[in-house]
Amino acid sequence: MDPLQNKRIIVGITGSIAAYKAGELVRELKRGGAEVKVVMTEAAQEFVSPLTFQVLSGNPVYTNLFGPEGRWDPEHISLAQWGELVLVAPATADIISKLSLGLAGDLLTALTLASQATIIVCPAMNSGMWENPILQSNSKRLMELGFHFVGPGYGELASGKIGKGRFAQIEEIIGKIKEVLYPKRNLLGKKVVVTAGRTEEDLDPVRVLTNRSSGRMGYSLAQVANWRGGEVTLISGPSILPPPFGVNLQRVRTTQEMREKVKDTFREGDILVMAAAVADFKPQSLHQKKLSRGELSLKLEPTPDILKEMGEIKGDKILVGFALETGNSLDRAKRKLEEKNLDLIVLNDPTQEGAGFEVESNVVTLIWRDGRTEPLPKLPKLEVAERIWDRIAEILK
Ligand code: C5P
Repeated sequence: MDPLQNKRIIVGITGSIAAYKAGELVRELKRGGAEVKVVMTEAAQEFVSPLTFQVLSGNPVYTNLFGPEGRWDPEHISLAQWGELVLVAPATADIISKLSLGLAGDLLTALTLASQATIIVCPAMNSGMWENPILQSNSKRLMELGFHFVGPGYGELASGKIGKGRFAQIEEIIGKIKEVLYPKRNLLGKKVVVTAGRTEEDLDPVRVLTNRSSGRMGYSLAQVANWRGGEVTLISGPSILPPPFGVNLQRVRTTQEMREKVKDTFREGDILVMAAAVADFKPQSLHQKKLSRGELSLKLEPTPDILKEMGEIKGDKILVGFALETGNSLDRAKRKLEEKNLDLIVLNDPTQEGAGFEVESNVVTLIWRDGRTEPLPKLPKLEVAERIWDRIAEILK
């Protein structure tokens, strides 16, 4: 499940030109299923109208520490209790310094001070301000107190100058939020390697032998491993999917390239999950020129079995493989688990309804070393990834 689902998030907007970008941020949070309430400082309202955020968040926008006349409404307390996360984005030099001192003269500072929730700060300002030792020291103090910082980035600033002070990328901020909100951090300190997608074997200068794997299952596994605190390297064959946030993506094309990358990274790694649909065979010879219509027969030879090779050197590291079997052959999968020295194998049949390469869901059976099997119902691939990491966490224990 998306870690944003049903989460109550307060977005505090302060007076930076990047305030307009907070609109996109609020939309993304809503898209992920979060409930959002926006708080704006007076300066923020000079840049963007509260109405924009009222429409985008679907909630009233909060601007005032004191409610309308005649009403005593301790908004800073009720908002502080409501929010499971406070995101100050963009955060000016002014708000960072105020927060570091515990000042509480307006609604945003007061509620942040009252809140028990996780606080994420996304600075956006001129590089001179950001680099000023006063601000550096105030930011450091906040970090030491447990505030999370995303950005600022390096690049062109509103002044036209190049420097550090740019508001972080929206994906980077969303990625951090997901990481912080995610409850199961059982891969902290673990180096995780995941392979995904297909490999390609050249036939001639223009043609390849490959399969239809999209990479979705492996990308989901990598994303969930990152949410759980793992240090993740995703080794991916050709795929059009966007790189998962916070994951070190290494692109490869052929089985040989994947083999080299897996060998290099697994040496330092703790867990390898081979979700890639690696080509099992390749043309015996690579034709230097494009094959003509006359040459219709093809001689094939097996590719190196990467997983098997890793099984030989795994020691007490954890190794998980996939078995793609049309006809759901449990016995064949069990044999593979033994032959390749795996801790767990994930059997799936791409011809089954709701399973396979180009769909968002999958139907899999998990098989352990001791012969236990666990068939899972049809689930979205992210959810399948969750279950697989739950089981790996059990093995880790
Ligand atoms: O033997 P089979 O190809 O069905 O095994 C599937 C498992 O082995 C998958 O985890 C796949 O990533 C891995 N594999 C591999 N190298 C190959 C072929 C498959 O690592 N050449």
